[in-house]
Amino acid sequence: MSIGDNGSARGSIGSGLVVENLHVAYGGVPAVRGISLEVKAGEAVGLIGPNGAGKSSTLLAIMGAIGRTGRVLVDGRDIAGLPPEKVVRTGVALVPEGRHVFAELTVADNLRLGAVGRRDRSGYAEALEQILTMFPILRDFGHRQAGLLSGGQQQQLAIGRALMSDPDILMLDEPSLGLSPTAVDTVFEALDLIRGAGKAVLVVEQRAEFTIAFCDRTFVLHDGEITLTLKPEDAEKVDVLTKAYFG
Ligand SMILES: Nc1ncnc2c1ncn2[C@@H]1O[C@H](COP(=O)(O)OP(=O)(O)OP(=O)(O)O)[C@@H](O)[C@H]1O
Ligand SMILES: [Mg+2]
Repeated sequence: MSIGDNGSARGSIGSGLVVENLHVAYGGVPAVRGISLEVKAGEAVGLIGPNGAGKSSTLLAIMGAIGRTGRVLVDGRDIAGLPPEKVVRTGVALVPEGRHVFAELTVADNLRLGAVGRRDRSGYAEALEQILTMFPILRDFGHRQAGLLSGGQQQQLAIGRALMSDPDILMLDEPSLGLSPTAVDTVFEALDLIRGAGKAVLVVEQRAEFTIAFCDRTFVLHDGEITLTLKPEDAEKVDVLTKAYFG
């Protein structure tokens, strides 16, 4: 499905991400303790919580980058045992914390590399055009070295590169980290379009109020467990926010 389709795939049966009873441990020390969550096509779901709560571990475990137990279903398919490069081909993409663009390569080459995980090679040109329309700066600076872009521009590139793999599920780890307020707005306007195009968006953030207001649902993670599930209207409730921050 393409960006701008206006959510034609919204709510299709079985589409999206389902996580059941996810556990992660590092050297026997638990970091994620039995998380279950669902992100349907056309939804954005937030994951917030204090440092060390297990947010990044959850995304990495879904991606197959670290060991886990529990079930992960992508568009209804159990992806048990798949390494990250194969998980990408099932339709999951991760924009990791800190962006990680290839600094020495041009913007255009970074985007080209993102297409390696595509299931449908034929949609390449169309996908690229959609991404360049969503992030015009990537078109303007196509020949520039990625390392010379500002933080906000690099975040747009990192998201664009992830979209080049044509994911049904887009996961982002703290996309607003270190960005100016304007750059944060640009990123979240893009996430709104991506959600509107029928993709499932799972976003880890530190900025609780902003995330709760943006997402269809937000889970609060404390010490590896989901302790609260919040709706957009909860963003205005001080007592709820206090609980989200301090447990
Ligand atoms: N590679 C690792 N080896 C050992 N322990 C780890 C490793 N990565 C994370 N941990 C531990 O697992 C727990 C969860 O870490 P994780 O990075 O998932 O948290 P987080 O919610 O993303 O935190 P932050 O907000 O700081 O990014 C923490 O106690 C952390 O110290
Ligand atoms: Mg983290």
